[in-house]
Amino acid sequence: MSTSSLFRWAADFEIVPMDASDCAEASVLHAGGFSQVWSDGEIQALLGQDAVFGFIARRPGRRRRSGGFVLARLAADEAEILTIAVSPKYRQNGLGWRLMGAVLRHLRAEGTPSLFLEVDEGNDAAITLYRKIGFSKVAERAAYYDQDSGARTAALVMRLDLG
Ligand SMILES: CC(C)(COP(=O)(O)OP(=O)(O)OC[C@H]1O[C@@H](n2cnc3c(N)ncnc32)[C@H](O)[C@@H]1OP(=O)(O)O)[C@@H](O)C(=O)NCCC(=O)NCCS
Repeated sequence: MSTSSLFRWAADFEIVPMDASDCAEASVLHAGGFSQVWSDGEIQALLGQDAVFGFIARRPGRRRRSGGFVLARLAADEAEILTIAVSPKYRQNGLGWRLMGAVLRHLRAEGTPSLFLEVDEGNDAAITLYRKIGFSKVAERAAYYDQDSGARTAALVMRLDLG
């Protein structure tokens, strides 16, 4: 498949609020991005909390083969990204940016002052995305993530001012 047809496919996705029926798809997407996979049930349990919301990139009219999803939590003016994953097939076509944009629009409409997230210090793709959006590092948790290699890497705590 050519790069141009993949790009057209990525542009075809719409970003819509997640509901319980999207959690199985979201679990598959999560497995494509992380070694410690969140099950359908775990994602449903999170999304079932009042404070948690999410968006999924879906082709209009289709429930399956979604392109990516994001989950966030907003409680008492404190907002955080819980997870974001884009299918390896559709990465670097703007879906991560669009999913984060949907979260930012939601939080700004709610009057939320800032958004936090944690990211592995070695996750260059995600860190570049977050910096491009405007996040900056505010803290670091040493030896926070266990890698498959046995090494432990730090978590960067990043913050975006939404004001
Ligand atoms: C991080 C992730 C969500 C990015 O999604 P994506 O759809 O590929 O990102 P986008 O195409 O919207 O990229 C937006 C910007 O992010 C940066 N970026 C994305 N992927 C990158 C990469 N592999 N290398 C460098 N920069 C990258 C670029 O600045 C890009 O802008 P540009 O295309 O104008 O250069 C995706 O790589 C992913 O799912 N990774 C696995 C799961 C994960 O690590 N989640 C984050 C946990 S904190």
